[in-house]
Amino acid sequence: MALEVVILAAGKGARMKSPLPKVLHTVADMPMLQHVINSAQKLEPVACHVVVGFGGEQVQAQLEQPGVQWVEQTEQLGTGHAVLQALPGIAEDSTVLVLYGDVPLITVETLGELLAKAANGPALLTAVVADPSGYGRIERDQQGAVTGVVEEKDADANQRSINEINTGVLAAPAAQLRRWLPQVENNNKQGEYYLPDILGLAVQEGISVASAQVETEIEVLGVNDRIQLNLVEREFQLRLARRLMSAGVTLADAGRFDVRGQLQCGENVFIDVNAVFIGKVSLGNNVRIGANCVLMDTVLADGVEVKPFSHLEKAEAGEDCVIGPFARLRPATVLEAGAKIGNFVETKKVNIGAGSKVSHLSYVGDCDMGSGVNVGAGTVTCNYDGAHKHKTRIGDKVFIGSNSTLVAPVEIASNGFVAAGSTITKKVAQDELAVSRTRQRNIVGWQRPQKEVDD
Ligand code: UD1
Ligand code: CA
Repeated sequence: MALEVVILAAGKGARMKSPLPKVLHTVADMPMLQHVINSAQKLEPVACHVVVGFGGEQVQAQLEQPGVQWVEQTEQLGTGHAVLQALPGIAEDSTVLVLYGDVPLITVETLGELLAKAANGPALLTAVVADPSGYGRIERDQQGAVTGVVEEKDADANQRSINEINTGVLAAPAAQLRRWLPQVENNNKQGEYYLPDILGLAVQEGISVASAQVETEIEVLGVNDRIQLNLVEREFQLRLARRLMSAGVTLADAGRFDVRGQLQCGENVFIDVNAVFIGKVSLGNNVRIGANCVLMDTVLADGVEVKPFSHLEKAEAGEDCVIGPFARLRPATVLEAGAKIGNFVETKKVNIGAGSKVSHLSYVGDCDMGSGVNVGAGTVTCNYDGAHKHKTRIGDKVFIGSNSTLVAPVEIASNGFVAAGSTITKKVAQDELAVSRTRQRNIVGWQRPQKEVDD
């Protein structure tokens, strides 16, 4: 049977204490609602109907995408009312799955299991928990069949002692929802139209209510505040960490590791503590990432080593490059095999040839560098004249002495040699030595200034 997914996302989320609609708060840098949409899409539904209310326009503007239909719920009158708003856009002969924009960890496996039970009647996802407070409790008859859900606020002491709770996630044939939802009333403590009240109507009609149980409570944790948001974030990261470790990656500490995007790893990769991966990052075989590094949209070939405290953004490094510690690779940095970028070196828009070394305290921007180049400490490419950026070209096997400034546009042809402390403004031809510094004078007999001596 065709599947239609309804995702409830109309709530304000007052406890987030944020102007941002709750479902736009992120887990691993992606809005919670997008996580739910992604999981739902894996089930290949006809459509995802997202019910929005508070901040609805903002949610829609940010998450507009194919396969999603937006449904407005102007007043939040309860979960039953919310699903009812989506029904007009849903095909009669489909199964409806209800998910929540603030329950981002739900897995496709769990949903598949629930859906398998919802062909002829409603199926409810439940969990047995240590502390059921706040949740709706599951009521069952003597045979163990679900008879309904009682919300905590409406429950008596006996009902409150039940520790099987309603996760909220439910599936049912569309035709049944269409029949029952309009019959749901709001004569309860909260004056809301409760979605789980359809279960009582099913039982009245002699239709049995199926149920599936989740094994881990965190999978169905709804985020109401930033403490829960963090619990979900850590669980999400732990799942990723476990997946990588299973695939052969060594993590120094799975709890101090963050992926906010997609991280691809080859064989035998080692990642030290506090590494953060943002966007699309790809690490080849035998790559080592030191402690406290941030890598964004970066591709590292086999054998690259990134030493601690390095920051790489839109960079590319060939085999066996060594980067850091304390290196900053800015966008469009391309290092060819075996290149070395050392401590306190910043690069931007550079191509650094094979085996070239910029080992200490340098800025190299807008530069094409050949192979086998040695750039001394404190070298600066002066690429900006206040209005325009200019290029520095450095040929193969060039040697740049320490503390040199290369005023672009300028070229140092292959095997050229720049003496330490030079300011280069003119082309240095092949094999030439350029010295551009004042000659040293030594003054014999010079007297050092003396402090006046107090008597
Ligand atoms: C609901 C369930 C409860 C379950 C719990 C699990 C009902 C009546 N109760 O309670 O049995 O244990 O979830 O977390 O269903 N929403 C809308 N429009 C509305 C009302 C809610 O979109 O009119 C959305 C909210 O944004 C939220 C979700 O539905 O994401 C749940 O609503 P909420 O009022 O928080 O339900 P609970 O009281 O937690
Ligand atoms: Ca409520």
